[in-house]
Amino acid sequence: MNDFLNKSILKLKNKNIPNPELDLKLLLQEASFSKKEIILSNLKIEDINLKYLDKLISKRLSRKPISKIIKKKYFWKSAFYVNSYVLDPRPETELIIEEVLYNIKDKNQKLKILDVGTGSACIAISLANEFKNSKITAIDISKNAIEVAKKNVKLHNLSNQITIKRLKLADLRQKFDIIISNPPYINQKEYNKLQPEIKKFEPRVALFGGKDGLRFYRLFAKEIEKKMKKKSIFICEIGHKQLSSCKKIFSNSNLILKKISKDINKIDRTLTFFKI
Ligand SMILES: C[S@@+](CC[C@H](N)C(=O)[O-])C[C@H]1O[C@@H](n2cnc3c(N)ncnc32)[C@H](O)[C@@H]1O
Repeated sequence: MNDFLNKSILKLKNKNIPNPELDLKLLLQEASFSKKEIILSNLKIEDINLKYLDKLISKRLSRKPISKIIKKKYFWKSAFYVNSYVLDPRPETELIIEEVLYNIKDKNQKLKILDVGTGSACIAISLANEFKNSKITAIDISKNAIEVAKKNVKLHNLSNQITIKRLKLADLRQKFDIIISNPPYINQKEYNKLQPEIKKFEPRVALFGGKDGLRFYRLFAKEIEKKMKKKSIFICEIGHKQLSSCKKIFSNSNLILKKISKDINKIDRTLTFFKI
């Protein structure tokens, strides 16, 4: 088995796949006949569906991300179904959940929450699990992403708490206590330089935020206030080096920037706003 493992790792290494050992372990897990967690040092060849494993390795050699191969990605406290129509949930986006928890101390409150650009619904579902009495509306423009979001809501048994709608922000007529969004914010230059794992296998509609990457912040500065009550909060994720542009955009709105939070890499990552 060792020989087989080494050969597979070498194949991945030769294609410059980062973390080949970890990737192989995840693919072996997917191709394992048993549901038990595999231990490499203890692995028996008869426990693995080798034909299937070979297919999985070929997909990884084409730079398809592991998450898109095994159709699963972890976020906050749960696993989510993902495919090529949704962005893979990112660890830095968990900061949005932390910021909501920081602002809302009483988890039993009956909150009305809006998630703009829900994708896999990872934020909506994580918030629904944290705030069990809340009702969440999650919107997205992508028909295919909406299907993934609905599937995840069903898988997590949260249909009574979360409503998924294919809608543009401007067409929404309700008001909410909390509004959150991780919008597309990659600009044209960054988009052109994205690594193949992202550019080839993640949807452009989830990444591209217009020529300067700021299209959605301009939309938020105009629209979000209309969906907020007096004491509502709005939390959004921003991209690397977008803080000063975002400050400028929102300075012309009826929103007051209350908090800027950094992610674990010390990058300004979320903005929290109140209404004037
Ligand atoms: C960066 S992804 C975020 C996905 C998910 N919320 C997350 O954090 O992993 C942005 C999402 O916004 C959606 N989107 C793009 N343009 C939109 C629009 N005009 N209105 C609503 N959603 C939009 C995309 O389809 C995508 O699912």
